[in-house]
Amino acid sequence: MEKVRILKRFEPRKENLLSLLHALQRSNPQNYLEEEDLKLAANYLSLPLSFVSSVATFYSMFSLKPRGKYIIRICESPPCHLVGAESIIDTVSNFLGIKVGETTPDGLFTLELSSCLGVCGVAPAMMVNEEVYGNLTPEKVRSVLNDLRRGK
Ligand code: FES
Repeated sequence: MEKVRILKRFEPRKENLLSLLHALQRSNPQNYLEEEDLKLAANYLSLPLSFVSSVATFYSMFSLKPRGKYIIRICESPPCHLVGAESIIDTVSNFLGIKVGETTPDGLFTLELSSCLGVCGVAPAMMVNEEVYGNLTPEKVRSVLNDLRRGK
């Protein structure tokens, strides 16, 4: 079973909880943690399910509901806000026809907001899954989204 193989990649120690949850979430094509994942992690690390659930709901990078193949996280912290993050959010929202927190009907994109991504020098910035994009303009954002749509 695929998920058992994922568990076995980690020592069964509680400090591996976040890494394990990340790996389980990544293994799901819809980018989220199912109830079964939380139970597996709790059993494997000998932690109470309530603790694992509270960790999964505390961190915004985890989701307990299905999301798109591409998770777009636009930084809304002050340095990005000051140089136009709002127009980037509007551009993505209008281009994809979804609001923040929603997923496109084709299951391709989910739009989320984020605090500082640690790349303020290239503000405004966003992440798509693990990839960072900076110095964003509405044109650049549309180009990135078009490339992703075409599978580039
Ligand atoms: S404030 Fe946006 S990347 Fe730091």
